Amino acid sequence: EAVMRRILVTGGAGFIGSNFVRMVLCEHPDCLIVNLDKLTYAGNLGNLAEFLEHENHKFVKGDICDGALVGRIIDEYEIEAVVNFAAESHVDRSITGPKVFVETNITGTLTLLEAARDKKLERFVQISTDEVYGALGPEGKFTEQTALSPNSPYSASKAAADHLVRAFGHTWGVKYNITRCSNNYGPYQFPEKLIPLMINNALNDRELPVYGDGLYVRDWLYVYDHCTAIWRVLQNAPPGEIYNIGGCNEKANLEVINLILSRLGKPKSLIRHVTDRPGHDRRYAIDAGKIMGELGWKPSLSFEQGINKTIDWYLNNQDWLRNVVSGDYQSYYESMYANR
Ligand code: NAD
Ligand code: TYD
Repeated sequence: EAVMRRILVTGGAGFIGSNFVRMVLCEHPDCLIVNLDKLTYAGNLGNLAEFLEHENHKFVKGDICDGALVGRIIDEYEIEAVVNFAAESHVDRSITGPKVFVETNITGTLTLLEAARDKKLERFVQISTDEVYGALGPEGKFTEQTALSPNSPYSASKAAADHLVRAFGHTWGVKYNITRCSNNYGPYQFPEKLIPLMINNALNDRELPVYGDGLYVRDWLYVYDHCTAIWRVLQNAPPGEIYNIGGCNEKANLEVINLILSRLGKPKSLIRHVTDRPGHDRRYAIDAGKIMGELGWKPSLSFEQGINKTIDWYLNNQDWLRNVVSGDYQSYYESMYANR
């Protein structure tokens, strides 16, 4: 049924990548996944615990900047397509330390593109972000025609990668797609991002650090729905096409936080307004009309359904949460919030 059956997934031990690997292994048994991941602070094999011995899943620990390794994997497993999730993904970390964002997000993508070109792969899917478009005021949505105008070191590195992908298509005929999704939430998200951070803090009766006035708007999509969209693009999209992905769920941060507090039965007095993020993008909103119209994709869950599932997942997986916050997380958290 699948057209692309032998797939190299990079960053498949992270949040979205692990959800994608799980979806493919469960729903598309004719596919082989080779999962290349460096296992940074954000990568965790516990995200795929029940699939580590799965016959259609081969995990390789390594860096996407290692071209020789990437080439060997493509040859050994007769890879047809790459789906590149591997990235440094957190805006706040890109402000305190941008260099690794350039290395992984730009040089890493370049390395994968050179392999896709040299090995004549059938498809290269770059998992990008709506943040490459910059910020919106109170009105309007990002379309695929919106000019790239990234504001943070994170989004600048992702935009640079998008330009390289396009250039490899234009110059050497690499068959690519780029997907630009809005903010994801759901199981296995590292508690540095808004929703799992607030759930983790509320569960531990810790203050919830709200940047600025808390009226920044994000367009939330449940991670499984992002994965089904990527699947459609990989299997059905013509090469050279770019797709925005989003669920029309615009929410102000405080609205999301208040919902989490009420579901967990915790008081609003936990909310603490802290110093704003420098250069903070006011609002993101996605027009997903192209992928809906051309590929027939639509999200399966409303925000209310998705957030309930997510909170339940964190409540039922507190061992996972304790495990991921055990290492350097405490010192990261303190350095991030001590001076705010
Ligand atoms: P994540 O930080 O949870 O996971 C990133 C994964 O990449 C980790 O497993 C990490 O170990 C791995 N990795 C990092 N550097 C690597 C390297 N040099 N070589 C190999 N592996 C490396 O990120 P995520 O939230 O799952 O995001 C995945 C992708 O989706 C990213 O490209 C991100 O830009 C994009 N995206 C994320 C969101 C979101 O809301 N989280 C929204 C839109 C797009
Ligand atoms: P985040 O999850 O970091 O995603 P992004 O910045 O890539 O959209 O942040 C989502 C929103 O939540 C953003 O407006 C910043 C805000 N935020 C807080 O107010 N407090 C926090 O502790 C975090 C992590 C984010």
